[in-house]
Amino acid sequence: MSPRSSLPYALGLTTLASLAAAGPCDIYADGGTPCVAAHSTTRALYDSYQGPLYQVQRGSDDATTEITPISAGGIADASAQDSFCNGTTCLITVIYDQSGTGNDLTRAPPGGAASGPQPNGYDNLASATGAPVTLNGQKAYGVFISPGTGYRNDETTNVATGDEPEGMYAVFDGTHYNGGCCFDYGNAETNNLDTGNGHMEALYFGDNTFWGEGSGSGPWIMADLENGLFSGEDPDLNANDPTVTYRFLTSSLKGEPNHWAIRGGNAASGGLSTYYDGVRPSVPGYDPMSKEGAILLGIGGDNSISGQGTFYEGVVTSGYPSDDTEAQVQANIVSAGYATTSLTSGPAVNVGDTVSLHVTTPGYTGRYLAHSDSDINTQILTSSSSVSAKQSASWTVTTGLGNSACVSFESLDVPGSYIRHYDFVLQLAADDGSKQMHEDATFCPQAGLTGEGNSITAWGYPTRYIRHFNNEGYVATNGGPEDFDATRSFNQDVTFLVESALA
Ligand code: AHR
Ligand code: AHR
Repeated sequence: MSPRSSLPYALGLTTLASLAAAGPCDIYADGGTPCVAAHSTTRALYDSYQGPLYQVQRGSDDATTEITPISAGGIADASAQDSFCNGTTCLITVIYDQSGTGNDLTRAPPGGAASGPQPNGYDNLASATGAPVTLNGQKAYGVFISPGTGYRNDETTNVATGDEPEGMYAVFDGTHYNGGCCFDYGNAETNNLDTGNGHMEALYFGDNTFWGEGSGSGPWIMADLENGLFSGEDPDLNANDPTVTYRFLTSSLKGEPNHWAIRGGNAASGGLSTYYDGVRPSVPGYDPMSKEGAILLGIGGDNSISGQGTFYEGVVTSGYPSDDTEAQVQANIVSAGYATTSLTSGPAVNVGDTVSLHVTTPGYTGRYLAHSDSDINTQILTSSSSVSAKQSASWTVTTGLGNSACVSFESLDVPGSYIRHYDFVLQLAADDGSKQMHEDATFCPQAGLTGEGNSITAWGYPTRYIRHFNNEGYVATNGGPEDFDATRSFNQDVTFLVESALA
């Protein structure tokens, strides 16, 4: 008798199928703690899910399209996005809830701490191409959150309120973070205001030290429970909450009456470790909790918009998931095979070369990106211009100061100074060694939006490209809130021929 025929036949097939291919939310459902929200731009989180994962909107005509998995339970159809967005810019407008509960995430509204950068106070949307990855070798895109970017749903269904138990996990980029408040994913206020201690229960990732912290210098996985980022019972420090920088980071948070836990691990291998498991924080207002049930991504409960980070997938469950259920979910995440891929495209911009950035906008093609002292502008230059004028438009390509997968542009005539953005205006600045300087001076060349040359994104703000506008240098978003974000001649203004240096 074969082992197979010794199984009760129908049950055996079902069990084998769910073992072979169950998605994270199938596993949570089996564990009795079903997903009430399931968000991912990279893959289906249920074995049978084949509906939309996310919606993108393109800059050329504002048309939208929905990106679905290639097959049920599979990876997002990134090539459908690439064709739809070819020759223009694209933003992620909706991250659909795969749970069937309708808890989709869209552009977050203004809140008590901050209005977003949009004219109506709403937050920015993420670039659809800001966080490329592969899953088992197939390309997909995550959600790259820059300061000012946020998603939210204030009218959810079935998400925990009050002291009801819930769990959540998210896969983040453990190398993309900052100390701003607050790159969060999870449960928050329904009115976008800070309504008091215990009104949130969300994953936080970053190195903010204003409230609690863990060991080392961060970043840490912490819990945003409102008016505090908590690493454990002590509101200031849990030395067992380690600094974690896995490129693909699994983070988990779960809470039930006077009990909660933070767990984490490498999303590309191994299991989860427990960083905290115990009672609620030892300060008033968190026991019992007063969860409200909105879901947010990339922002604090009161729409604090200074955080940054990258989200690939995450869920919120009903009920407190067991460690065993989470172990199976982690194994599923590992089996998804997250890996890095190139952050650049188009003609190669090689480290070590000295280049000039030649404007392509008709009527301006005599101009090159140059500096006058610390101002970055475009200047009309020819081979017979003075040596000093040509040097001011010549740049040494270096490894990206803030990310080695991209590049920085060091001035030829002011060595040690680089092109950076500040308030989205380009300037020439000395490398002061800070993380902010390094990130602001890192750019990722892409295939030119007009079909020639390169369009060069700001690493920390992938919706933004190096642009000349009124002959000054900016990092601009197609149709964004600033005057230099104007859609008119956007593609031409952000497309440069990266040529051998004038000097
Ligand atoms: O709890 C930390 C932050 O404090 C919350 O995200 C925000 O609502 C408040 O400013
Ligand atoms: O240019 C945008 C931001 O402005 C930079 O990242 C920061 O340094 C400044 O606040």
